[in-house]
Amino acid sequence: MVFRFPSLFSETKVGKKTLKNRICLCATVTNFAQNNKITDSWRNFLLERARGGAAMLVTEVIAVDPEAIAQSSTITGFDLTNEPGFKLIANDVHKEDALIIGQLWHPGRQQLWHPTKSPIGVSNLPDPYSGTVPHVMTTEEVLRVAESYISTAKRLSDCGFDGVELHGAHGYLIMQFLSPASNNREDIFGGDLEARTLFVRKVAEGIREKCGQDFIIGLKMPADEGVPGGVCPDEAVRITTRLSKTGFFDYFAYGQGNFSLSLENHVPDMYFDQGAFIELHKKMRSVSGNVPVMALGRIGEPSLANKIIEEGFGDLVGMSRALITDPAWPEKARSGNSQDIRPCVYDNFSWGEVHLGKPLAEHHNAFIGEANEAFRLPEPANFSKRVMIVGGGVSGLEAAWVAAAKGHGVTLFSSASELGGGLLLESKLPGRQEMRRIIEHQIFSGEKYGVEYVLNYRVSARDVV
Ligand SMILES: Cc1cc2nc3c(=O)[nH]c(=O)nc-3n(C[C@H](O)[C@H](O)[C@H](O)COP(=O)(O)O)c2cc1C
Repeated sequence: MVFRFPSLFSETKVGKKTLKNRICLCATVTNFAQNNKITDSWRNFLLERARGGAAMLVTEVIAVDPEAIAQSSTITGFDLTNEPGFKLIANDVHKEDALIIGQLWHPGRQQLWHPTKSPIGVSNLPDPYSGTVPHVMTTEEVLRVAESYISTAKRLSDCGFDGVELHGAHGYLIMQFLSPASNNREDIFGGDLEARTLFVRKVAEGIREKCGQDFIIGLKMPADEGVPGGVCPDEAVRITTRLSKTGFFDYFAYGQGNFSLSLENHVPDMYFDQGAFIELHKKMRSVSGNVPVMALGRIGEPSLANKIIEEGFGDLVGMSRALITDPAWPEKARSGNSQDIRPCVYDNFSWGEVHLGKPLAEHHNAFIGEANEAFRLPEPANFSKRVMIVGGGVSGLEAAWVAAAKGHGVTLFSSASELGGGLLLESKLPGRQEMRRIIEHQIFSGEKYGVEYVLNYRVSARDVV
């Protein structure tokens, strides 16, 4: 077997723990939970990405406080409800030689799901997304919310988690403290950099005290908020420099934008360059001292991921959409089978689905959240037959490779001169060329299992009978 991408697959330390490689699943909302409770699909989603070879998995957002519950698919971390589920997933992920990190979350004023709800907030400035004016927390209320992060971290630690990631990006509560655009407080939590970073420092200090030196504390924050007066890259440098000196943090991850004018930077789509933000990550790495940086944002190619580590853009590579599309991405890349990776096309279908409140879905991964998703192949058929498929669009192509993988002899006929049907047309629109990669992967899979493709041929009844 040829092993590729040596930098990406080298071990590293995060805090006191060793990661077998540099690949991490970024936090990814699945909407697989029900009644705020962990389900089998919720656990499978993480476990299958551990089986697929990622070294560290960050859960989706976990509510630290009843105020943080956005919808019935938000996991609660502030009560006993999910302790059995947390214990199970920690145990399962460890068996796969991976680490599990819980993402601690409070949206503050940014009430995406319930804009009419009266949220708590850092300041009296309205949420730019919903227009809601929050109740401004008193200093005592701020301290109570800080405690809720700390006690949730302790619960996860007691359940066997390796650490937590504080969600301080995308305009949520911690970022509302960090950003001069949202923090106009006049108490100890508002004003200069020292004051705006106090909340997150207090939270991290409390977690370190309660959960010990071995427990990983990560922070996701913006390297560029992308709004006037917000956290610009120079301010992010100052924040990173200050926080790296506390000794509380074991890694920093940088997610750009918030849910207002800069939303497009948060989950950069196919109109962005690959690795659009790696230069920003490099800038942050240059001031983060001995705190590792997780680079993320439209990183989907093993060669790019390897370059990020090799050339010092970051110490870890975070991926959400590429691992939604193919949980076995790491193992396929490691074993020299990158061509088998189902390519992520970054059209943000998955993100759209979860924001509509639907379960996580992706174009060409129909098995997200199912057991054995990572290395699943079609079951062999009892009898091998000759199968004729008429039509070379995505449905025909999918049916063709699946039937062939089951052991049938498959011929696919298309009256067109090129395969791909309607999706091929879409891929010819400006900026949509990534869509073609779905077609290419289907054709490749068919060829692998011996599908015969016949083009420029209009099938008639005589061909069938
Ligand atoms: C479906 C979906 C759900 C997400 N959920 C979260 C989340 O719970 N917490 C978070 O910090 N970021 C979340 N993100 C953002 C990702 O963690 C990541 O920062 C972003 O998608 C860029 O990485 P990528 O290009 O590898 O997808 C989500 C992204 C997607 C596509």
